[in-house]
Amino acid sequence: MTALAAIATPAVLVDRVKLAANIRDMQAVCDQHGVELRPHIKTHKMVAVARQQLAAGARGLTCAKLGEAEAMLPSGVRNLFVAHSLVDPGQAPRIAALADQLDDFRVAVTSEAHAEALISLAAHIGRKLGVMIAVDSGLGREGARDMSAASGIATLLARCSHLELRGFYTHEGHFYGVSRKQLPSRAAELVDRLCALRDAIDPALAVWPGCSVSARMIASAGRVQAVRPGAYVFGDLSLTRAAGVITAEAVALHVLATVVDKPEPGLALIDAGSKVFSSDRTPDGLSALAADGRDIAVARVNEEHGYLRGSAVDALRIGERIVFTPAHVCTVVNLTDTVIVIESGQPVDTWRVEARGRTQ
Ligand SMILES: Cc1ncc(COP(=O)(O)O)c(C=O)c1O
Repeated sequence: MTALAAIATPAVLVDRVKLAANIRDMQAVCDQHGVELRPHIKTHKMVAVARQQLAAGARGLTCAKLGEAEAMLPSGVRNLFVAHSLVDPGQAPRIAALADQLDDFRVAVTSEAHAEALISLAAHIGRKLGVMIAVDSGLGREGARDMSAASGIATLLARCSHLELRGFYTHEGHFYGVSRKQLPSRAAELVDRLCALRDAIDPALAVWPGCSVSARMIASAGRVQAVRPGAYVFGDLSLTRAAGVITAEAVALHVLATVVDKPEPGLALIDAGSKVFSSDRTPDGLSALAADGRDIAVARVNEEHGYLRGSAVDALRIGERIVFTPAHVCTVVNLTDTVIVIESGQPVDTWRVEARGRTQ
């Protein structure tokens, strides 16, 4: 392979050893406490990574869209959950095909209004589908807001012979803003609430919470059946700085970019902008930080430019290459066709991002 110094930039780099460690560590916590790991593939969107998660012991995969689920089939996955509100009867043949190819294919039901739409869709599928009821745990996005809404959904499902209630899930994405000190009590409250809701409807059903901020903590309590973290495989500034649950050294994905101009003191420009880093930023407005600890931040982006600020910027040379940790890894991966796999700092492979852009 081409040496790293000769790789065209901007490029997305994946450290093979760190990735393997992140997969292994999360799996070990789950195994130790008898909790299934069903990682969300929205972060990596790559068959190569899904294969490693499954080989390490993941019980199944979670996807956001049918297109992601279809793209992950070559990984050998047998159990798949699409955690999104499917409503389009035009998708029925794709859902049926996925159900036919998997041992266990589940979809989400996300409110009473959505249950009606899913019941209509299910009538076109021609086979029984497992469903997981979404519960809103504070993000304020999809999910039953309270016990009465969850019971209402369960009652609607009981009347539909094509859908079988299998459990409950939540996405506690708002935990990224919870302090490290408050996290244990918030996670315990969330599990209490989900389990109480489940017990009131049917104690035999499964409970599947767990984002990358809380998955280890929730799995360690051993009271749920599965967790579904996504971003933990690579890590990013959201997990190292905002949530503080992953160390900077454990981050397995970076962006390699080149300094292309120094138009004024205190400012350097790189060849990576919003088409590489996406428009997602840290709570303090940064798109990325230099991974080697120098005070260099991508403080602003246009489509093809990143604006570097910080005390180490004036010492940069035009043509110098910098490795950055992005603010939000999932949207970075979705913007690249391939990633360069590195080991001991040198490229060893290229992986295709098969589910890139699979938003349908
Ligand atoms: C439904 C659902 N489950 C799981 C996840 C994984 O969350 P994280 O990447 O924080 O681990 C997400 C992320 O957006 C999600 O929307």
